[in-house]
Amino acid sequence: MSSLTKFVLGMMGQLRPRPAAGATTSILLPPPEKQGGLPLMDALAIRHSSRDFATDPLPLQLLSNLLWAAYGINRNDGGRTAPSALNAQEIDVFLALPDGAYRYDAIANELQFLATSDLRRITGYQDFVDDAPLDLIYVADYTRMNLVPVGQRESYASVAAGAITQNVYLFAASNGLATVIRAWIDRAAIADALGLTHDQQVLLSQTVGYPRSMT
Ligand SMILES: Cc1cc2nc3c(=O)[nH]c(=O)nc-3n(C[C@H](O)[C@H](O)[C@H](O)COP(=O)(O)O)c2cc1C
Repeated sequence: MSSLTKFVLGMMGQLRPRPAAGATTSILLPPPEKQGGLPLMDALAIRHSSRDFATDPLPLQLLSNLLWAAYGINRNDGGRTAPSALNAQEIDVFLALPDGAYRYDAIANELQFLATSDLRRITGYQDFVDDAPLDLIYVADYTRMNLVPVGQRESYASVAAGAITQNVYLFAASNGLATVIRAWIDRAAIADALGLTHDQQVLLSQTVGYPRSMT
């Protein structure tokens, strides 16, 4: 579906998910591999946004590694790979995969099943989001930010989400993946499809996949 069609449908509140025939249960991820990859400076040297994705699915091990790098638990006290104000850990990472929608549970290291629908199409107006193998959605849960003044919650949560997106950029650079952070998204359609509450806000999305030119 073209970006223009998607935008028009979005304006009409008609951007809908595609049905998916995937499993209806949560997926336990293999333990993340926490070693290896490019040295940090080499990854920084090639970090960039890409909008040209192959449709090949991401293997579960790669997905586990990616999510751990993005926002996994990296310390015994439950700390994460990305910072958050007052350690509120208010960001939830949702996944739109071809066979359904999930939430990353870093503690259980699993993908919590949410919906059988293929939500990739509604994660953004740009055409590539429909068929790239993974669209991440970053959602703030403001019920975890009681200690943060109300007027600062959105900006703090956006900073925290931005840190996660950069982790994904660096993981992608280190693993030969393509990625792009996206703010041109239909937040209402995504919130509706994910069944979010009024305390949850869709902040950003990010597409990840293999670069098309290399497959
Ligand atoms: C907050 C934010 C929102 C963005 N939204 C989009 C978007 O909706 N669609 C898109 O294709 N790129 C988006 N980008 C990516 C930028 O276009 C990209 O980072 C910029 O062109 C610089 O390119 P680089 O990332 O390769 O350095 C966004 C970047 C940021 C930081």
